[in-house]
Amino acid sequence: MHMHKFEKIWLIFGVTALLVFLSVLGVSAFYLGNQPPSCLAVVDPTKVDEHETFKEPGLKKVEGKDWDYELVFVAQAFAYTPGTVEVPLGAKVKVIATSKDVIHGFGVAGTNINMMVEPGYISEIVTTFDKAGEYLVLCNEYCGSGHHLMTSMIKVVE
Ligand code: CUA
Repeated sequence: MHMHKFEKIWLIFGVTALLVFLSVLGVSAFYLGNQPPSCLAVVDPTKVDEHETFKEPGLKKVEGKDWDYELVFVAQAFAYTPGTVEVPLGAKVKVIATSKDVIHGFGVAGTNINMMVEPGYISEIVTTFDKAGEYLVLCNEYCGSGHHLMTSMIKVVE
């Protein structure tokens, strides 16, 4: 088949652009996938239930750390465990979360807590709840048909 010179140029340009696009995508997916900024530690998503940190989700008092409590959440389509939890007012809390399946969000309404929760990684944030009340935990990453139902509740109590 005879090809016009310009068609050839456009074809080469098109293929080159596609390859550049795919490699950029691949490279960034590699880096993002391997080193999400807030998720340094790893966990086997199929063994979350056996993991030291995640086998008993909820609030735990800890000693000798920069925070007083650890608040552990396991996310999976379409719920968090625990579904509701009480936290003492003013306590310094490290929120620790992972996912058993797909990427979920972990946003706490009325605070600046907004994490991504990825299978294979542990997301952490240290915070202090200094106002009593009920804080809705929301999934802010689209994760499927039940995404909008995926919530938990943090009750900050005196
Ligand atoms: Cu989980 Cu959206």
